[in-house]
Amino acid sequence: MAFLNDHYLKLKAGYLFPEIARRVNTFLERHPEAGRRLIRCGIGDVTEPLPEAVRAAMHRAVDELGRRETFRGYGPEQGYEFLRHAIAENDYRRHGLDIADDEIFVSDGSKCDCGNILDILGHRNRIAVMDPVYPVYVDTNVMAGHTGEAQKDGSYEGLIYLPCNETNHFVPKLPSQPVDVIYLCYPNNPTGAVATREELQAWVDFARRHEALILFDAAYEAYITDPAVPHSIYELPGAAECAIEFRSFSKNGGFTGVRCAFTVLPKRVKARSESGDFLPLHPLWNRRFSTKFNGVSYPVQRAAEAVYSEQGQKEVAALVRHYLGNAAILADALRQTGLGVFGGTNAPYIWVKAPGSRTSWDIFDKVLHELQVVITPGSGFGAEGEGYFRVSAFNSRENAEEVARRFSSLLW
Ligand code: MLT
Repeated sequence: MAFLNDHYLKLKAGYLFPEIARRVNTFLERHPEAGRRLIRCGIGDVTEPLPEAVRAAMHRAVDELGRRETFRGYGPEQGYEFLRHAIAENDYRRHGLDIADDEIFVSDGSKCDCGNILDILGHRNRIAVMDPVYPVYVDTNVMAGHTGEAQKDGSYEGLIYLPCNETNHFVPKLPSQPVDVIYLCYPNNPTGAVATREELQAWVDFARRHEALILFDAAYEAYITDPAVPHSIYELPGAAECAIEFRSFSKNGGFTGVRCAFTVLPKRVKARSESGDFLPLHPLWNRRFSTKFNGVSYPVQRAAEAVYSEQGQKEVAALVRHYLGNAAILADALRQTGLGVFGGTNAPYIWVKAPGSRTSWDIFDKVLHELQVVITPGSGFGAEGEGYFRVSAFNSRENAEEVARRFSSLLW
């Protein structure tokens, strides 16, 4: 007899984005004529074509694979040296951050990395997540058996939720109870907030005091426009002893379909074994890659490398400017309707307070039915998100302007 993983049965009905897709499909089945007007500002998926420098590098790599002399089979599981070097050099060492090439692990996505990292962490950790939260951090902990059952408000027993709201500018206060693993995401998905140097330093100091581990998701780092905001957790003294950073080419280079990301795991980051030894996590993560992964494909790694070329950097900057331009248009339109609008200046997401006492899903349905615009209901990201909705700025300029016009005409 085979047994299933019972922890999966604790998961709530659907992952947020499939649930949104289900509701949109039902709406379209009933109103097929609305399909042509539908504009999606829900899931944060890029819309603009891949940079030319990236495409050219991919073409060249494919041609290499087509010749016997330059053909390559399996690559190193952790990523080719050329890409690990380009990342460590350009994203870290050039900014004075001491990260070695072999502390970079190239993968097929930050969502996967955020889930896979649990493989190397123990089951006794007290896990803290922000609320609202990117659902992947929560669901992967449920799957791994780190939580109890789901409660009425959608939260899970056993997880420590750190409220993020207007009062704390969407940056959580240090917890009053002990925690061992803390997920932080800045620029934040879903609120679009950023954390200051002082706020992040307080978390790093907390983690070091308590031998805790910070899992820092910096997937939206390219969107930071405020020069005072840190781009990497390693800008904070002490972080290289207590933090793992996740980054991605999805939202800067437009790789959501191409798939390439990386984790940074400094060799100084340690955690306790059951027998009480304080050991580095790097060999475990390295071992996990060798055993369970065969690396990202060669053309994709060459494409990612091209992001760091002079032309690649220019093209990526233009893409980011484009999406931030959309965010400004959308945020202005929403603000003019009198709503509380957050984010959108250092992140591609706008976080909006729904009018009155409407629930987030009420607003989702209203906006879908009346405007044929898909947004993301805030409550899908956690109890603190109730009463909010998220608008993604990943779109064409034409669509962003059209959505802005439609929002201006909406009678709440
Ligand atoms: C989102 O909409 O929150 C993003 O698409 C999440 C992701 O990148 O997986």
